[in-house]
This record gives sequence, structure tokens and C-alpha cells, in this order.
Amino acid sequence: MTHSPRSFHTVWHHATVTRARREQLSGHKGAVVWFTGLSGAGKSTIAHAVEEHLHQLGCHTYVLDGDNVRHGLCGDLGFSIEDRHENIRRIGEMTKLLADAGIIVLSAFISPLRADRDRVRRLVGADFVEIYCRCPIEVCEARDVKGLYSKARTGEIKEFTGISSPYEEPDNAEIVINSVSMSVEESVATVMACIQVRGIIASPKMSV
Ligand code: ADX
Repeated sequence: MTHSPRSFHTVWHHATVTRARREQLSGHKGAVVWFTGLSGAGKSTIAHAVEEHLHQLGCHTYVLDGDNVRHGLCGDLGFSIEDRHENIRRIGEMTKLLADAGIIVLSAFISPLRADRDRVRRLVGADFVEIYCRCPIEVCEARDVKGLYSKARTGEIKEFTGISSPYEEPDNAEIVINSVSMSVEESVATVMACIQVRGIIASPKMSV
């Protein structure tokens, strides 16, 4: 599905306070750190732990989380392929704005379709980092933190990712986190190292 813009006759307004000036003020770059993976794979846990770490280093951050965003901005969307596509399209645009505001965005969405994730990657550009939280469905299902997998198995929840709706693994993620063998601390250290190598945060703030 492609999105057809309907906002005609609009003119882009250029700000005097630019992204570069905001980044100079904060001492770090705006960026989008995009976590993808099955429900229960640890995306939100790791995103919040990375945010905690960055916050303590004095960085401006924000976590966008699937369940939370679906209470508001995307509350009108369900879990059909079309609605997930629109969900990720909106979130992608939102992350681009937040990165432009100089914020390090940690986004935690299943984002099951490769094409949708790749679209966000193209939209955001160089400051997009994709992190695949890899966890076998059996493990996610055994954890069943929210009790959703059992409901998906009985058919009470339809179109559930990994059970009755597809998940396409990334083939170009910057980082793969194996959430079975890696601790949260190890995962945070891996993500922080990537954020450092990419120059998103400057050297003096590097001590992990
Ligand atoms: S996405 O596929 O569109 O990226 P998103 O990350 O926003 O999904 O929302 C996923 C969360 O919604 C899950 O963590 C889970 O708590 C909840 N959820 C409810 N129904 C479903 C479903 N059918 N498939 C997957 N997640 C669901």
C-alpha cells in the first residue's frame, strides 16, 4: 500500500534554529535507534535500559513503544498488514521529526515487515540504526509476559505476529541481539558501542 498525500498547497517553512544548532547545544546528534522483533523479545526492556543509560550521560532521549503509541497516535489502527504498514509509516515520520529535534529516539515496535522498516531507514537516512532483538517464538511464547500468545493460540486474538501473522527477519540490521543468551546489560553495552561508533554521542560521553 502506498500513501497518497492529500495536503496540497502547503509550503515548507525553514527554521532559523536548525538541527545542527540543536545538536551543538546538546552535544550529541539526533538519531533513530529502531528495535524490531517479536512480542516478548525484549525490545521495550532494552530500549528503556539504553534510554536510562543515555539519560544519565546527559543526552536528550525518547522511547516510542508500540503498546503506548497504540493508545493515542495510532489508536485507530488494528493489526492487519495494512494497519501495521500505516502504524510504521506514522511512527517513521514521528521518529524523523524527533531526530530533527535533536533527540535520540529509541523505538520499540514489532515492525514485522522488512519493506516498512526499510522505508523508515530511507526516510531517516544516515542516523538510523536497526537492532534486531532475536528470540525464538517458543521462548517468547513460554515467557508470555502479557498473556497474549495463549490468546493467540486459542484464536481469541487474531493476526498475532509469529502465530497467525508474519514476521520477516531483518537482513541488514546493524546489530542483532540474542535475547536468550545476552543479558540486558550486555545488550545495552552492545547498543551503546554502536551509538558511539556511529558518532551519535561524542567521545567525552562515552564511558559506558
Ligand atoms: S506492529 O506490528 O504494528 O509493529 P506494535 O509494535 O505497534 O505492532 O504493537 C505490538 C504490541 O501490540 C504487542 O507487543 C502486543 O502487546 C500488542 N498486540 C495486540 N494484538 C497484537 C497482534 N495481533 N499482533 C501483535 N501484537 C499485538
